[in-house]
Amino acid sequence: MTTAKEKGVCLLGVNIDHVATVREARKTNEPDPVWGGVEAQLGGADLITLHLREDRRHISDRDLRIMLQTVTAPLNLEMSLDEEIVSIALDSGPEMVTFVPERREEITTEGGLDVQSQVKRISEAVVRFREKGIRTSLFIDPDVEQVGASADTGADGVELHTGTYAAAGGGRRAAELEKLARAASHAREMELIVNAGHGLNYNNVSGIVVTIRPRELHIGHSIVSRSIFTGMRVAVKEMKKTILDALVSGC
Ligand code: PXP
Repeated sequence: MTTAKEKGVCLLGVNIDHVATVREARKTNEPDPVWGGVEAQLGGADLITLHLREDRRHISDRDLRIMLQTVTAPLNLEMSLDEEIVSIALDSGPEMVTFVPERREEITTEGGLDVQSQVKRISEAVVRFREKGIRTSLFIDPDVEQVGASADTGADGVELHTGTYAAAGGGRRAAELEKLARAASHAREMELIVNAGHGLNYNNVSGIVVTIRPRELHIGHSIVSRSIFTGMRVAVKEMKKTILDALVSGC
C-alpha cells in the first residue's frame, strides 16, 4: 500500500478567526481563540492561521501576542498591506505571513490579491519580511498572470483561492479544478510554494489535495463549525484524516 510519506506532505493550517467571531458577538472574553489554537494544535494542526484585520472585527492584537507566546506550532498571519498591520507583523514575528486583499464591508476575504497592479508595493513588503526571516505568501485567484506577477515580487509562495471551486456545483467544479491545477503547475515552474485555501470543507477538500497537492491547506470556517459539536481536537483530527486519506488513495 502507498503511504502518505511516499505521496508527499500536505500540511493543515487551522484558521481560528471564527472562535474570536463568537467571542466578539458578546464582546466578552470567551471563547478564547488562543485556547482554540492550543486545542487545534493538540488535534494535529501543523500551523495555526489567524487574520488580524484592520477593523479588528475578530482577532485582536492581544490574541496575536498571546497566541505567539502560547502555541508552539508555526503561526501564519493573514494580513493586508496596511502599514499599521505590517509594523505589528514585523514586530511580532510569526513564522509566515499571507497577504490578502481586505475590504471593510466584506463578510470574509473575497477574491484574491491583485498582485499585477502592485508588484512594487508587494516586493517592498516581501523584502522587509525576508530581512526578519519571515516567509511570505500571496493569496491569489488561480490565474496564471497573477502567478507570474507573484513570482516577480520575490514572495516565497502563493495561496491559491479555492472559494470559487468550493462554491461551484456540478460540471463547473471540474472546470475550476482545472484552473487551479494550471495555476499550481505554473507556480511550481516559477519555484513558488503552492498553498491553497478558502471555502474548503470535509466534503470538497479531497479534490484539492489530489489535483493540486498543496504544501499547506488553510481551513477555518468548516473546522470551527464542526468543533462546536465535536470539540476542536476531534474536528481537526477528522480534517487531517480526510486529507491523509485523499493523499494515500488519490481520489
Ligand atoms: N485562506 C485565506 C487567505 C483566508 O482569508 C481565509 C479566510 O479567513 C481562509 C484561507 C480560510 O477560509 P475558510 O474560513 O473558508 O476555510
